[in-house]
Amino acid sequence: MTPLKIGMIGLGTVGGGVAKILTQHPDRIERRAQRPIVLQRVAVRDLTKKRDVDLPAEILTDRVQDVIDDPEIDVAVQLIGGTGEAREIMLALLTAGKDVVTANKALLCEHGDELFTRARELGRSIAFEASVAGGIPIIAAFGSALAGNQITSLSGILNGTSNFILTEMADKNQTYEQALRRAQELGYAEADPAMDVDGTDAAQKLVLLSQLAFGVRAAVAEFPCSGIDTLTLEDLKCAAELGYMVKLLAVARLVDNLLEMHVSPTLVRNNLPMADVQGVFNAVKVTGDVVGETWFSGQGAGQLPTASAVLADIVDMAVGRSQLTFPTLDLFGGRTTFRVQPTD
Ligand code: NAP
Ligand code: HSE
Repeated sequence: MTPLKIGMIGLGTVGGGVAKILTQHPDRIERRAQRPIVLQRVAVRDLTKKRDVDLPAEILTDRVQDVIDDPEIDVAVQLIGGTGEAREIMLALLTAGKDVVTANKALLCEHGDELFTRARELGRSIAFEASVAGGIPIIAAFGSALAGNQITSLSGILNGTSNFILTEMADKNQTYEQALRRAQELGYAEADPAMDVDGTDAAQKLVLLSQLAFGVRAAVAEFPCSGIDTLTLEDLKCAAELGYMVKLLAVARLVDNLLEMHVSPTLVRNNLPMADVQGVFNAVKVTGDVVGETWFSGQGAGQLPTASAVLADIVDMAVGRSQLTFPTLDLFGGRTTFRVQPTD
């Protein structure tokens, strides 16, 4: 079978995980992809950096252009953060005729309209399973398994770093600073962890999920968003004494045909399933008019769980089952279905 040649941009936490899976389990991946997947080129910023994955030196480059210009590369896996350079690289990759897999939710949240429209014009795909809730296949669920439903609400824990910090503080008596440092060491946090702890990262993921679930293109600034960065150990202890846990919840729900959205630290009663979501785990409760209530949970950040989602997209591309190029338009026939209403 003709191999699928991929070029990767970024070999950090997530990129390193993708490289590990491809090098450690080539047979498994080939069986699922129905052809070999070849890591043809990997672009990094610093070629001298020590890596925890062994790749042939000749495939590494510090020029992203080497990936863009390589005519043999079918799929580019873009695993760098940020929205400026990442946008330019994504546009160049699409223009060069590559389908793109990414985990960058900030990029899709800010520039998704432009990028998906460009992909559609060029007949290319953008797949982004890893951009929301790490290893949980929540994008795929909205794209296919729940397609027969009008989603009426979704709520959940969408930031692994925040949930990890809350768990460390509540269960292990760690300070906020100690817990955040540990989340950074474990590769859960963003390069700028402010986005994790002030609620922005969860809000960006809520925007993407709401686009898929409700056909609404909201902006983060359109709904209330606060994070865990102002909480103290005392707050958590006080909640525990009253029988609650504090969780950073992201919520979007239809109320009288308006979409209420918010992200905020929330008291969750100890006996509810959401209170059991510990550490780096994420969970999403989705209610549809046909299916009723469904739950998705798993590791929401970190190297291998996130790489697992990236691999799912690569395999989908290999077998021609890639993501819709512009989910909102495809699922909702170009109509915006609901107006965003900030939660009171
Ligand atoms: P990371 O560990 O900081 O890795 C970023 C990688 O990108 C590094 O290898 C870096 O090269 C490379 N890079 C940056 N700018 C570059 C450029 N201009 N040219 C070539 N290479 C460049 O980040 P990460 O945690 O893997 O996250 C990557 C993306 O995935 C982000 O958008 C993040 O939001 C998203 N994400 C992360 C997780 C997670 O758990 N970490 C989960 C889901 C989604 P050097 O290594 O040489 O510095
Ligand atoms: N920093 C993000 C988190 C990575 O902690 O959830 C996964 O998107």
